[in-house]
Amino acid sequence: ASTLGASAAQTGRYYGAAIAAGRLGDATYTRILTTEFNSVTPENEMKWDATEPSQGRFTYTNGDRILNQGVAMGAKVRGHALLWHQQQPSWAQSLSGTALRNAAINHVTQVATHYKGKIYAWDVVNEAFADGGSGARRDSNLQRTGNDWIEAAFRAARAADPAAKLCYNDYNTDGVNAKSTGIYNMVRDFKSRGVPIDCVGFQSHLGTGLPGDYQANLQRFADLGVDVQITELDVAQGSNQANVYAGVTRACMAVSRCTGITVWGIRDSDSWRTGENPLLFDNSGNKKAAYTSVLNAL
Ligand code: XIL
Repeated sequence: ASTLGASAAQTGRYYGAAIAAGRLGDATYTRILTTEFNSVTPENEMKWDATEPSQGRFTYTNGDRILNQGVAMGAKVRGHALLWHQQQPSWAQSLSGTALRNAAINHVTQVATHYKGKIYAWDVVNEAFADGGSGARRDSNLQRTGNDWIEAAFRAARAADPAAKLCYNDYNTDGVNAKSTGIYNMVRDFKSRGVPIDCVGFQSHLGTGLPGDYQANLQRFADLGVDVQITELDVAQGSNQANVYAGVTRACMAVSRCTGITVWGIRDSDSWRTGENPLLFDNSGNKKAAYTSVLNAL
């Protein structure tokens, strides 16, 4: 097939992009989006600060714009992200203990209920593990409410939207390392105790190389009985960019439970990695070498 989405669909997968509501009026952006992609993720519009700017008052205007764009395209919509230590509204940042726990679980319930039946997969919890060699949870206000906050969030999400796949999502998990192993152990524990979890997202914000065990790492999670997805892919510009993109694509294609890939933006000028040119389309919307290498690998 001649587009990313159609090629991925040949093996039952999706190829998605993170999109921003504020860019949907840009004709080049929207042309590439609707031509190439069959999944969308809101770059910011479904985060806690966007959806519950004051406690108990929910605003879905921009999140709904992303949802409606996805529906209009016949695309999957990945929900991102119900709980995260970043981009929390200031009122939540000032809470702790039982008050924060209750507010967080209510947030999960309310947002997942609003989007019930419309989301392919939710990033229920984002970035809860620490970098470095500990393999431990990240310290955060949410973690300080008790180690069971993640499973409480997953149970609340399942109750609110039983049809959505529920994912744990993180970065620096691109090979077998202490951080990915900490997450692996959590997923194994959740599966053994019946805590609802369906998928693990590998953000894959990559530099100039790909760990040699990238595919093996995806596979070990899949072997636990969860889907895996590449959720926020972008790769530093450089001579190796197209090769790294191809390697990620081939790894996902080789893992039967790798259900899809999402790039974190469309053109380089849309990227959060300012000046790094990490995406598949250049500032003018032209296909880069990395685009061709992905298409050839799907
Ligand atoms: C980023 C967005 O791209 C930026 O627009 C925003 O200012 C900060 O967040 N990990 C995640 C994403 O899970 O939500 C982040 O997105 C990038 C890192």
